[in-house]
Amino acid sequence: MARPDPHSYADPAQARTKSFDWWAAVDFPTRTLSARVTLTFTEPARGGPLDLDTRGLVIESASVPYVLHPADPILGARLELQLPAGAREVTLTYATAPDASALQWLEPAQTHGGRQPFLFSQCQAIHARSLVPCQDTPSIRQTYTATLDVPAHLRAVMAAAPVSRELNGPRAVEKFEMPQPIPPYLLAFAVGDLASKDLSPRARVWAEPGQVEAAAWEFSGVEAMIHAAEDLFGPYDWQRFDMLVMPPSFPYGGMENPRLTFLTPALLTGDKSLVNVVAHELAHAWTGNLVTNTNAEHFWLNEGFTVFAETRILETLEGADVAALHSAIGYQGLLEAFVQFEKHPELTKLRTKLDGVDPDEAFSLVPYQKGYLFLKTLEAAAGRTKFDALLKTWLKAHRFGAASTDDFTALVEKLEPGLLARVNAKAWLDEPGLPANAWRPQSKKLDGVMAQLGGVPSDTKAWTATEWQLWLDAVKRPFAACTELDTKFNLSAAKNSEVLVSWLTLAAESKHDAVLPLVDEVLGRFGRMKYLKPLYKALAARPETRPRARALFEKNRSRYHPIAQQVIAKVVA
Ligand code: BES
Ligand code: ZN
Repeated sequence: MARPDPHSYADPAQARTKSFDWWAAVDFPTRTLSARVTLTFTEPARGGPLDLDTRGLVIESASVPYVLHPADPILGARLELQLPAGAREVTLTYATAPDASALQWLEPAQTHGGRQPFLFSQCQAIHARSLVPCQDTPSIRQTYTATLDVPAHLRAVMAAAPVSRELNGPRAVEKFEMPQPIPPYLLAFAVGDLASKDLSPRARVWAEPGQVEAAAWEFSGVEAMIHAAEDLFGPYDWQRFDMLVMPPSFPYGGMENPRLTFLTPALLTGDKSLVNVVAHELAHAWTGNLVTNTNAEHFWLNEGFTVFAETRILETLEGADVAALHSAIGYQGLLEAFVQFEKHPELTKLRTKLDGVDPDEAFSLVPYQKGYLFLKTLEAAAGRTKFDALLKTWLKAHRFGAASTDDFTALVEKLEPGLLARVNAKAWLDEPGLPANAWRPQSKKLDGVMAQLGGVPSDTKAWTATEWQLWLDAVKRPFAACTELDTKFNLSAAKNSEVLVSWLTLAAESKHDAVLPLVDEVLGRFGRMKYLKPLYKALAARPETRPRARALFEKNRSRYHPIAQQVIAKVVA
């Protein structure tokens, strides 16, 4: 039978994993995990093959006969087990590869403290298989227990409930339990020199010791945020909302690992100006973690809904004006994504076909921002009250499940007959680009920024980082007055990394080469792809700076995350 997820060998006709028990010993010198996993099935197997996803794993033994097939460049290697009739579980022992795509092993110098190594995982979209042989598709939710054996002077944290920590000579054995069923892409852990501070009875921040206080201050509003989100979307179902401040090479702004959101240290601006990223990852607790997409072809259900939810949280906490500014920044990002995919318009549809396409390569702001605009367009047509009710019904209908685009349209048609036709949903979902009826944000603050795109802005007294970011993203390039702009507003000293990168991108695209040394420094400081991509792209676009892009990439490459290395290599090629 055809496999329903183009990125997994999982076959619905075979046994289905219900839970797994994972043991892994972390070895920094060899950059490997020695591991064992027992997969337990939803019911006794009928007998026959069971296909698991793996990438780079060295299988040492299995409790049943198996064949490890040759690796596909995108999916990895199919591990075909032969289950006897009646089998309830299977156990495998194996080791991960030193270049496991889900892991980044950091030298002490790459951490904040500079004294201890650090290890973290990033499994979305299809990297869990490089850690654990599994049915690596979001449509198969699994609970798990885990034991991590780590150096005793380090601490392990997981996106799960901690159970115990026991010392065993030079090692510590830490146990965890994940009672809520998760799609495999939400498996996550980190090992390092970590400390924590409580922010509320259900929220705590973890960071390297030297960053805990700054992080606790930056994220002190988190409980108010959880309250706002619960008012909008219903009770928080994951018990805890802890956060982990990552090393600077973390390739994303945030990752919604359940119970333990991972966040880039770039959020520690000292003025809470980037807490929208926390709102975004928190929103995923409903849109994504509670109701996930059946596969990456419906990724907009995860990210479009989450941008919608994030913006609603911001609107509650900071007002409609601020929410509108964020929407406008997102719209600029969408226009940029349409340019990026000029030669691949099919990737600008909401419902995509990803057979033979690596999800990391297809990644863009389209599912985020076009998805968001589709939902806003539906909301505007239905009215907020009706659309809020629809959203709640959606979350209830697929709670701890997985849903497709068809599931969404079926629900909308049932609850609001005719609404889809009224907004021309077909064009939104299955045609490239942006339909003409797209909702547009409106606000006084937004008008104030957009009215000053003609030259160096003059009326900026009330501007926050958000207005600056929007102005810098929206102004036409090349911008002739970069020197005057920087002299007047000292953008090169911006503490907010979004503002800094938006400024450097504008400057690089405007041939304002005075910023190049600072661009070099920023490309060495961060590993967040959102910052690396536009800067490398701007350098690579000009023959004069292309060699600089390549030299910088060679210099920094080994310190970037494996996913970032792969993506940036294409940009500078
Ligand atoms: N889940 C994503 C990050 C992700 C997406 C990792 C796809 C791997 C594959 C996360 O929720 C996210 O969207 N992060 C954004 C935050 C922003 C939209 C506020 C980021 O990292 O920039
Ligand atoms: Zn997201």
